[in-house]
Amino acid sequence: MSDLAPLPARAWRGRPAAQQPVYPDAAELAAVVADLRTRPPLVFAGEVDALRELMAAASAGEAFVLMGGDCAESFSDNTADNIRLKVQTILQMAAVLTYGASTPVVKVGRMAGQYAKPRSADTETRGGVTLPSFRGDSVNSHEFSPQARTPDPRRMLDAYLRSGTTLNLIRAFTMGGYADLREVHSWNRGFTANPAYSRFEAFAEEIDRAMRFMEAAGVDFEALRQVDFYAAHEALLLEYEDAMIRRDSRSGRLYDTSAHFLWVGERTRDVDGAHVAILQGVHNPVGVKIGPGTSPEDVFSLMDRLNPHGEPGRLSLITRMGADRIRHVLPALVEAVQADGRPVTWITDPMHGNTVTAENGYKTRDFETVMDEVRGFFEVHQALGTVPGGVHVELTGDDVTEVRGGGERIGTATLEERYETLVDPRLNHQQSLEIAFEVAEMLRS
Ligand code: PEP
Ligand code: CO
Repeated sequence: MSDLAPLPARAWRGRPAAQQPVYPDAAELAAVVADLRTRPPLVFAGEVDALRELMAAASAGEAFVLMGGDCAESFSDNTADNIRLKVQTILQMAAVLTYGASTPVVKVGRMAGQYAKPRSADTETRGGVTLPSFRGDSVNSHEFSPQARTPDPRRMLDAYLRSGTTLNLIRAFTMGGYADLREVHSWNRGFTANPAYSRFEAFAEEIDRAMRFMEAAGVDFEALRQVDFYAAHEALLLEYEDAMIRRDSRSGRLYDTSAHFLWVGERTRDVDGAHVAILQGVHNPVGVKIGPGTSPEDVFSLMDRLNPHGEPGRLSLITRMGADRIRHVLPALVEAVQADGRPVTWITDPMHGNTVTAENGYKTRDFETVMDEVRGFFEVHQALGTVPGGVHVELTGDDVTEVRGGGERIGTATLEERYETLVDPRLNHQQSLEIAFEVAEMLRS
């Protein structure tokens, strides 16, 4: 791939760009961006195309997408253990979902690049002091001091390098035997052995039987020791994404090589804005988060910009409506898309419409509410005869206490025990598996 990205991917520069950091030193920003442009791509065109095919299969009900990872990755949590536990959690979820869906599960980590965050305010005031908001580790530091909060472009280089090492480890795990289905299933048996999750025991038994059948029938388990695992993040930081665009020498197409899949957030999805424009110019499969205020016209405009010819697998709509609204607002959007005829891959994000502040001040989500949004998503698609293509969740492989409820019955008072996120509350390892078992049962029915 060559390292210069000509138009049309540059068209975003003329558009309004929301949620961008203000760097004090333009020359330093230019130097970092020039440096990034010379760096190797993090992902390759062939892999990106393979994911596009899989997203197309998911839009037709022939695959199911599982996207998960931190709300924001952080430099300090960029450790081997954290990466391994997240990959393990996603693989465990995927094994259960594969059985439930009876189709391949497309495994996508919200990992290896999820370092920039949109914020509701540009500044934060504490004790009379006002500083720029924390926008993620690729922009500034969470610590509340003028120096830490000043956007530093060199952080983009750090984010690039950490994304590369994360991908390297993910590739090593998923290609080196760590994804062995027998092993993954035995971890799941460990989970269902816990009395708190005994309601999933029968389901796990069934998978056991299926595995024994496969073995008896001579399935080559050795061949099942490797899986494809893709990386995704929000395409928020325009200078970074732009610097990672490369032209594929074989096809001549432009790709954003910072990740296989990129999405635009609810706050930056303005159809005439810079974020939609930058993704318009690249060939990756892309997503747009859509909230309860989205109209059918908004969806048509997004399709016109991002997938005018209706190529399957190109565009995913990631709905984040809130459990109390999804059953009311999603049907009109799904019907409009159905009538239009251009395919989209429908994915539910049951997290971002369901964030609440607990009485003790912690930003949290309730497990039951999250599940209810997933249920609503399935109900709407079932009623309309359309395809629920996947789930997108915020999770970690650790034993954190950020989301209330679930089998461990995390209560408000428990939140403070291991509340580690710098931004949104994540499902912990057990809660993630619970969701996977619940969704697997929905997929089966
Ligand atoms: C996110 O995915 O962390 C996020 C900010 O989501 P949304 O754009 O849907 O609010
Ligand atoms: Co979030």
